[in-house]
Amino acid sequence: MQYAYHDYHPPTENLLGEVLSGLTCQPKRLSPKFFYDAVGSRLFDAITRLPEYYPTRTELGILREQGDAIAEHLGHDSILIELGSGSSQKIRVLLDSLRPTVYIPVDISSEHLRHSASNIARDYPDLQVEAVCADYSAGLQLPDLPVDTARAAFFPGSSIGNFEPAGAVSLLRDIGRDLGPGGAMLIGVDLKKDKQQLDAAYNDNQQITAAFNLNLLTRINREIDADFDTNRFEHRAFYNEAEGRVEMHLMSTCTQNVRIDGHRFRFEAGETIHTENSYKYSVEEFHALGAVAGYEAEQVWIDPDGLFSVHCLRVCR
Ligand SMILES: C[S@@+](CC[C@H](N)C(=O)[O-])C[C@H]1O[C@@H](n2cnc3c(N)ncnc32)[C@H](O)[C@@H]1O
Repeated sequence: MQYAYHDYHPPTENLLGEVLSGLTCQPKRLSPKFFYDAVGSRLFDAITRLPEYYPTRTELGILREQGDAIAEHLGHDSILIELGSGSSQKIRVLLDSLRPTVYIPVDISSEHLRHSASNIARDYPDLQVEAVCADYSAGLQLPDLPVDTARAAFFPGSSIGNFEPAGAVSLLRDIGRDLGPGGAMLIGVDLKKDKQQLDAAYNDNQQITAAFNLNLLTRINREIDADFDTNRFEHRAFYNEAEGRVEMHLMSTCTQNVRIDGHRFRFEAGETIHTENSYKYSVEEFHALGAVAGYEAEQVWIDPDGLFSVHCLRVCR
């Protein structure tokens, strides 16, 4: 087993600073990256198994179906960097076809990353696993890597949709710099579709998505001395067709004050904290975004129902 863990996790002061500035904004907002403490990661994994949540099983289906074709584009023996690796479930489908020499799962959720990355190292003893706990939106910090080995990136789960389009461009551009000219990126992107299906995917009957959203407040209470009453906030999620994104919010059910590290924040009844955007793209829209970020669109695979896309992008030389 070849396994190392590199801890570049952002300090708690960053959480405090970002929460204070996000709640000072009008409308109030918090970054979705803060969903993922240990509980949040477990709840997300539960979401991926919900009948309403089509993205995970659909993307997995594409990866299973197209593994060999994907390997032709990404090549073998590369250094493979996965952004937001989570449970590393999807890479397992590809490892036998891709046969990378080094696998670098990058995730902000430390406990979850340790668990899933060490399991990969145990199950693939010839693979060098270099787990990196970091915020990839703050610039990728990578361990020392051989300079003469091709690099490829895997960015599944449509996590790119959590960024505003301009932010997505700058993140993809940064990753492209790390990959170098000619580097390949395999990226999963949720497609535009009808509002009913999108609304259902983020409002499941078992209310796991609601628990995932509300866990953000529990986490803030625990980590930075705040007194959110989670019974006084409700999960709201809907497809905003004009913006082409699903929005998640936490809505205050009454007028209330919340104290965070000595600061007081007033919430009106019905006021929300905007906690996540999940932009949906047509293939053409995503190709255009990739082009601005410095990539050529090389291939796209789509499931038979047209729900989800997996793109191979190549960093322009
Ligand atoms: C939507 S989940 C996707 C998980 C998995 N890749 C999948 O496709 O099912 C997003 C993952 O990215 C991680 N993540 C979110 N924001 C991050 C950030 N800024 N830096 C590093 N990891 C992040 C989360 O911890 C979580 O594991």
